Amino acid sequence: MPQRLGIIGHPIGHSISPVFQQAALDAIGFDGTYQPWDVAPDEVGEFVAGLRAPGTLGINVTVPHKEAVIPFLDEVDDWASTAGAVNTIVNRDGRLTGYNTDGIGFLRALREGADFEPRGRDVLVLGAGGSARGVVYALARVGVAQMFIANRTLERAEGLAALSVDSGAAAEALSLSDAPGAAREVALIVNCTSMGMVHGPDEDGTPLSAADIPSNALVNDLVYNPLETPLLREAAKSGAATLGGIQMLVYQGAASFEMWTEQDAPVAVMLEAATAAMRARG
Ligand SMILES: NC(=O)c1ccc[n+]([C@@H]2O[C@H](COP(=O)([O-])OP(=O)(O)OC[C@H]3O[C@@H](n4cnc5c(N)ncnc54)[C@H](OP(=O)(O)O)[C@@H]3O)[C@@H](O)[C@H]2O)c1
Repeated sequence: MPQRLGIIGHPIGHSISPVFQQAALDAIGFDGTYQPWDVAPDEVGEFVAGLRAPGTLGINVTVPHKEAVIPFLDEVDDWASTAGAVNTIVNRDGRLTGYNTDGIGFLRALREGADFEPRGRDVLVLGAGGSARGVVYALARVGVAQMFIANRTLERAEGLAALSVDSGAAAEALSLSDAPGAAREVALIVNCTSMGMVHGPDEDGTPLSAADIPSNALVNDLVYNPLETPLLREAAKSGAATLGGIQMLVYQGAASFEMWTEQDAPVAVMLEAATAAMRARG
């Protein structure tokens, strides 16, 4: 029987997960379809209950349902409960488990996409929203040396610094205007703000300019639309290594894929399909 997979959100038309997940299923010859479902907020409970049926392996969950699905699941993993958000649901014989693969995807993107090992390094995280929470938790768990967390709203950075310390890594909260000073001292800079995102609050903005970025650092921008962001352009000007957000997007999807299919994800195929889909959107 063909297996059913997909992603729920509201709206969902912007998601490129169906493109690269279907490409991955096809590449390994897995008999399944991965489709987008636009689910209204008041239909989430009923939709999730329907996932318990045989023939459904699971789904991805995106905005605005990542928190809303939690009460309808049987259990959630550590990453999801720390993030307060589920992006993957797996159906095992009618029992539903929620996961959050963002942190794992982020780490795999660093290691496999940029050959960068964060353990023992000094890092700067820009932003303190949902994605920053997963990134900070992941970096603290692998044991970075010192973490700086800079955000426009300082109190939110302070909350994430406390999470980092609780998870075992020293951390200092800064306001975003103090990020340039910290940037000069670190090996890794991760942008988790929406600055530079198409149709975002500051589409042409960058949290750092080339002069602030050490030439021997790696700059990872989580923003993937556009593929080449203002921050990545500044990083390239400074001579730093760069990693675009499409890598994390694909690796978090690869982690979900491996949970559903219990097979290695064809990451190169997924990355190529995702990049082509983004380019086609201009
Ligand atoms: N590559 C991936 O797989 C992946 C995964 C998740 C997210 N993302 C991308 O990461 C970005 C952030 O997502 P999110 O879910 O963390 O969003 P979020 O929870 O809404 O957080 C937004 C963050 O951006 C900051 N911010 C917003 N507008 C700003 C501005 N004009 N100037 C300075 N800071 C500003 C916010 O600061 P305040 O706290 O002061 O409001 C906050 O820290 C989005 O572009 C998203 O597409 C990528």
